[in-house]
Amino acid sequence: MKFIIGNWKMNGSISEKDTVFKELSKIKTKNKIIMCLPFTLLNGENHNITIGAQDVSNHENGAYTGDISAKMLNDVGAQYVIVGHSERRLYHNETNEIVREKATMAIKNGIIPIICVGETMEEKNAGHTISVIKKMLTESIPESGEYVVAYEPRWAIGSGITPSENDIVTAVKTVFDTLPNPMPVLYGGSVNANNARDIVSIPYIDGLLIGGTSLKSDTFLPIIKSIR
Ligand code: PGA
Repeated sequence: MKFIIGNWKMNGSISEKDTVFKELSKIKTKNKIIMCLPFTLLNGENHNITIGAQDVSNHENGAYTGDISAKMLNDVGAQYVIVGHSERRLYHNETNEIVREKATMAIKNGIIPIICVGETMEEKNAGHTISVIKKMLTESIPESGEYVVAYEPRWAIGSGITPSENDIVTAVKTVFDTLPNPMPVLYGGSVNANNARDIVSIPYIDGLLIGGTSLKSDTFLPIIKSIR
């Protein structure tokens, strides 16, 4: 069983979700499909697809205007939440410490966090990929509980460029060796129907986190079918 996780980022309307979910619900697969949607699309008709959010507050409740708590996510039926996505780290200054707090809060409320880590191109070129991943991971993972890790090189996200197989193995093996307990490890960054099958066959990879190509059935369904 592999994880195939869609990340819609700040995209999608109710009708677009409805169209894609109707198609998804017809597919027979042994893999686990999870759709991480904007908050506005979490509630409503989910056609028996597992849903997740893309962020969660590190606070329990209270005066945090605009934030969404893990308890609220649980309330609408979200079972997963992405934490520490590179876009959150970059545009919202999320530190490893905040990511760890968010992951801990999710677990406390019965939601499985998908914790993202990955190096920038500068860090890669300086030969720091392994040390960056180790530090991010060690400081971002919660003390206990179940979680998923997504290795997403920042430079591969939305760029159409993917790392070499060797680079993915090295990075994902680093994640695997750094984790105190075995947890699923995913790859994310410019996954499409042409590369999904090869990437998911790489040792240590338990699945994929997919952004742009998860938005429409004509790009997402071929990925799911290719790794059926
Ligand atoms: P991408 O995004 O598939 O569009 O590169 C992946 C992600 O950001 O999770």
